[in-house]
Amino acid sequence: MFSRVARPSLAICSSARKFSSSSQNNAKVAVLGASGGIGQPLSLLLKNSHRLTHLSLYDVMHTPGVAADLSHISTKAKVTGHLGEEQLADAVKDADLVLIPAGVPRKPGMTRDDLFNTNAGIVRDLCSVTAEVCPNAILGIITNPVNSTVPIAEEVYKKKNAFNENRINIFGVTTLDVVRANTFVAELKGLDVDKINVPVIGGHSGVTIIPLLSQATPAVAFPQEDRTRLTERIQNAGTEVVEAKAGAGSATLSMAFAAARFAYKFLDALNGADNKVECAYIRSTETPAAYFATPLLLGKNGVEKNLGIPKTIEYEAELIEKAMPELQANIKKGIDFMSQ
Ligand code: 2OP
Repeated sequence: MFSRVARPSLAICSSARKFSSSSQNNAKVAVLGASGGIGQPLSLLLKNSHRLTHLSLYDVMHTPGVAADLSHISTKAKVTGHLGEEQLADAVKDADLVLIPAGVPRKPGMTRDDLFNTNAGIVRDLCSVTAEVCPNAILGIITNPVNSTVPIAEEVYKKKNAFNENRINIFGVTTLDVVRANTFVAELKGLDVDKINVPVIGGHSGVTIIPLLSQATPAVAFPQEDRTRLTERIQNAGTEVVEAKAGAGSATLSMAFAAARFAYKFLDALNGADNKVECAYIRSTETPAAYFATPLLLGKNGVEKNLGIPKTIEYEAELIEKAMPELQANIKKGIDFMSQ
């Protein structure tokens, strides 16, 4: 069992960011995999935001068209399209935030881990360029299996001497698990979804997704039967979409919504907004797993403080224990891939 006592906060290297208080809403955000099922709606949501002045779209196909289309929208962000590997460095140059949805999605019957063979190399190759060109940018990795691709990205940064042990800038985007938990709780209890927050910790696959329904704000009471059913639905919600899409892929629109929420929170925090908290998957000393999602207090430099594992009830503490073998195996697989 892992104790819930306060942990030392993460020391942050403040010189690492170029974002300054004078840089209100002038972010450059790059989307790598911008022409794909998640990339396109995510790019639309980003283009619609006042927080950006430059939206940079990279993919191996169709980016000129996607960029031309988005560029006609009457919001301030300039849109640039970058096609093919030789244009990747230009796409991420001076980026404050890089979001990576590139890769293949699941088909029915597949786990996220089944995507490893294809997606691990994609993330490695993209991160090799971000490590060289924009090593201080915040990276939000959406590409599955997130439990493994985040360790891969950090191993790439280590190899490229771009790794800063005092600052976390590589995140697995687990926001969709929080979004789903909030939605399902609101539906079940007839509450206003805008007012609900359920922390979801752990990783981003099956049993590694750990919703802390006992810590929902405002507090919501559940009989254990409902708690178990809801927990399992949140853990399997990605599969629910994969099955409903019947071979046409996995969640794209809700994932784009979640990734945009992640991006807005980071951009607002980088711009000096207080009290921005978001759960995300990062390297961690909270549990025996080397990576673990917890609520993070965001600030001008990215993570100001890892808020750690919130208080849990016994059922949730057991979920954390149960997640460990899969989570640790996923992390090891990513690290081993990079040591080949
Ligand atoms: C999901 O949870 C695609 O991993 C994503 O649906």
